[in-house]
Amino acid sequence: MKKVDVVLGLQWGDEGKGKVVDVLTPSYEAVARFQGGPNAGHTLEFNGEKYVLRSIPSGIFQGGKINIIGNGVVLDPILFREEAEALAKSGHDLTQRLYISKKAHLIMPTHRILDAAYEAAKGSSKIGTTGKGIGPTYTDKVSRNGVRVGDIFLDFKSIYDAAKARHEAILRSLGYAYDIAELERKWFEGIEYMKRFRIIDSEQTVNDMICADKHILAEGAQGTLLDVDFGSYPFVTSSNTVCAGVCTGLGIAPNRIGEVYGIFKAYCTRVGSGPFPTELFDETGKRLRDLGHEYGAVTGRERRCGWLDMVALKYAIMVDGVTGLIMMKSDVMNDFDTVKVAVAYETAEGRTTVFPYNIESDVKPVYREFRGWKCDLRKIRRYEDFPQEFKEYVEFIESETGVPVKIISVGPDRDETIMR
Ligand code: GDP
Ligand code: IMO
Ligand code: MG
Repeated sequence: MKKVDVVLGLQWGDEGKGKVVDVLTPSYEAVARFQGGPNAGHTLEFNGEKYVLRSIPSGIFQGGKINIIGNGVVLDPILFREEAEALAKSGHDLTQRLYISKKAHLIMPTHRILDAAYEAAKGSSKIGTTGKGIGPTYTDKVSRNGVRVGDIFLDFKSIYDAAKARHEAILRSLGYAYDIAELERKWFEGIEYMKRFRIIDSEQTVNDMICADKHILAEGAQGTLLDVDFGSYPFVTSSNTVCAGVCTGLGIAPNRIGEVYGIFKAYCTRVGSGPFPTELFDETGKRLRDLGHEYGAVTGRERRCGWLDMVALKYAIMVDGVTGLIMMKSDVMNDFDTVKVAVAYETAEGRTTVFPYNIESDVKPVYREFRGWKCDLRKIRRYEDFPQEFKEYVEFIESETGVPVKIISVGPDRDETIMR
């Protein structure tokens, strides 16, 4: 029986999960998303083409593989249709190999409006959400008011209308003006469009595949520091992005989990509000943003940039049970004279290497400085050929975390990947 391997982000998202999942897919029979929704933007590049995926798993470009949208995902029929139609136009027809869980929850037009209304009500303490209705949809799921994909085969209109009426009452109480007529029209068209895909009991399919010795890769969205339980709450998303989310988001038991690949950038980024201890507000931060093209894959928002944070990384590795690390975007720092890593925090209670409950209060990183590698890593394809300074950086991370760095990415393209 093959276990389910996992790829997930260890920072605040945008680590490069899309690229890595695409690279790893040839070794698997299926790729499954287990949480999140169109708040994700997963970028893949190959043969000079660039694709950004939001709800559809990143395994779709490696021919013949099954791709599953699991029960833990929240799906917007409008955005799903746009994404699937764009892929079909570029020659990737998914109707036979994309499966959607009946238990995935639907993002309604009023969920999007509620997301905007709640953000507006928070004023300066807003979360800086992606505005895709993620929080309100998961809220309805947990409060047992949600609308699920499988409902489209039931008395759907009345289920939809009841949920919409609840949302409208909230919006009225907030005094929030909106017009959803056009959105609603597109939404119902999206629902009809979805019916051409295989809408299934995905937990059954996934477990049948496991029993049939088929190898499945679970693809995370967002990152561990955005997890609703373990992230920098309340500046988080509304799902469990950690490894445990694979079990609830796909319906598989913990003892079915195999390798857990944790992805991180060689530095750190964050988009939206919330604490970020190693954030750089100076020229170096700007350089990271420019050289790393650190702008949101979907929203185009500027990503905040800073040094790698070992305290946060070790915390993420712990809660995820990471067995292999994947380091991305080291090439962005090719020209840096020195590179820093936070190895501890200075807090009011003294120095700590444990990720504190409240990282919003005065947390000052303690840095260790490394010599820059001053070399174009993008041209290198074998670990042996990396400069000594870069190997020192990689081996420091391995010795600090006790986890091997198994893959190093040195550029956005599929080919710019070194396996160890
Ligand atoms: P995801 O959400 O985790 O899939 O990551 P995003 O797609 O949002 O952001 C990662 C960005 O970095 C994308 O634009 C990728 O094309 C790009 N990228 C991925 N790996 C590398 C790398 O090793 N080097 C460089 N320079 N860019 C990379
Ligand atoms: P991928 O999968 C980076 C952030 C938002 C905001 C917070 C809550 O591409 O790594 P939400 O819309 O989820 O309620 O927003 O989470 N966020 C992400 N940041 N990458 C993502 O996804 C993100 N998805 C959500 O910016 O701070
Ligand atoms: Mg992204």
